[in-house]
Amino acid sequence: MPVTDLFESKPHHDQPYGDDANLQLSRSGGLRHLLTLRGLSRQMLSDLLDLSAEFLSPLGDAAVRTDTLAGKTVANLFFEPSTRTRASFDLAAKRLGADVLNLDVNTSSRKKGESILDMIYTLQAMQVDVFVVRDASAGVPAYIARHVKDHVSILNAGESDVSHPTQGILDLLTIRQHKKSFENLTVVIVGDIAHSRVARSAAQGLSIMGVGELRLVSPKSLAPNSDDFPRARIMHRLDEGIRGADVVMALRIQRERIGNLDGIPGIDEYFANYGVSHERMKMAAPDAIVMHPGPMNRGIEIESSLADSPCSVITQQVTNGLAVRMAILSTVCHNLDTR
Ligand code: CP
Repeated sequence: MPVTDLFESKPHHDQPYGDDANLQLSRSGGLRHLLTLRGLSRQMLSDLLDLSAEFLSPLGDAAVRTDTLAGKTVANLFFEPSTRTRASFDLAAKRLGADVLNLDVNTSSRKKGESILDMIYTLQAMQVDVFVVRDASAGVPAYIARHVKDHVSILNAGESDVSHPTQGILDLLTIRQHKKSFENLTVVIVGDIAHSRVARSAAQGLSIMGVGELRLVSPKSLAPNSDDFPRARIMHRLDEGIRGADVVMALRIQRERIGNLDGIPGIDEYFANYGVSHERMKMAAPDAIVMHPGPMNRGIEIESSLADSPCSVITQQVTNGLAVRMAILSTVCHNLDTR
């Protein structure tokens, strides 16, 4: 049988990792792929946060550079739009000394019907060592990880509404920089939780780190299946959910994942009921921070001036994202070399 990828014709499945969360670990228990935060230990996440911090330097200073990835090749394959994740993986790989291939998928042979696996095998034959993959279908990163050679690593850069693990780690790093411990924190995530891979990875990461309380606030039409968030309080009134919160994370409505927008509040109604504003932040803890993964819709899920105010850590999340991606690339390449 020819190497044929029938992936796109397989049914969507909500739990692409099932019992395979360990697929991402090497035989010695190190991180080989990063597909999901589910199943990672607190120690492993803490180590990644510590390593990420080593790649930070003050803005305006020279960026941290090493030759850790000299001789390695990293391919960025983004089948969905991205600014932050794509740019930061690109810069991260370059600052670690790797060769980097940013494939323009719109002009790739996938447009001529080539399967994603044939595309991967083609690039693997050119000695690509790490594939950074963003795709709108659930299960794609794990599917590729099951098929690549032993010396190759797959990093999930955003998978449908399922998982965005590097975003989850950068969110943890940002929270850790501002708050002493996770145990006593109340975190509220407000927005389109139903369609958010950011919320899923944040919830997984926060749960692993032992967060005190996680509240998920959304209109009923954008509420998640509670099975996806076993430890969270699912709420529908932001005025209640934000009370006393230490961390407030706003999410945009993922219109591209919603087939029928009936029942989704209009912009004014949404901002009135779910917009994170200066006024609402008065109900949060006095030293609460405001987060947003981007891209932001100012005036819809967040008041524009709040996004630029001192309690906002949104640009710090972006800075941390680059450091986290450097840490992940260093870790998986080290584990590939010592497997
Ligand atoms: N937060 C995030 O994933 O942003 P991009 O879609 O710009 O990569």
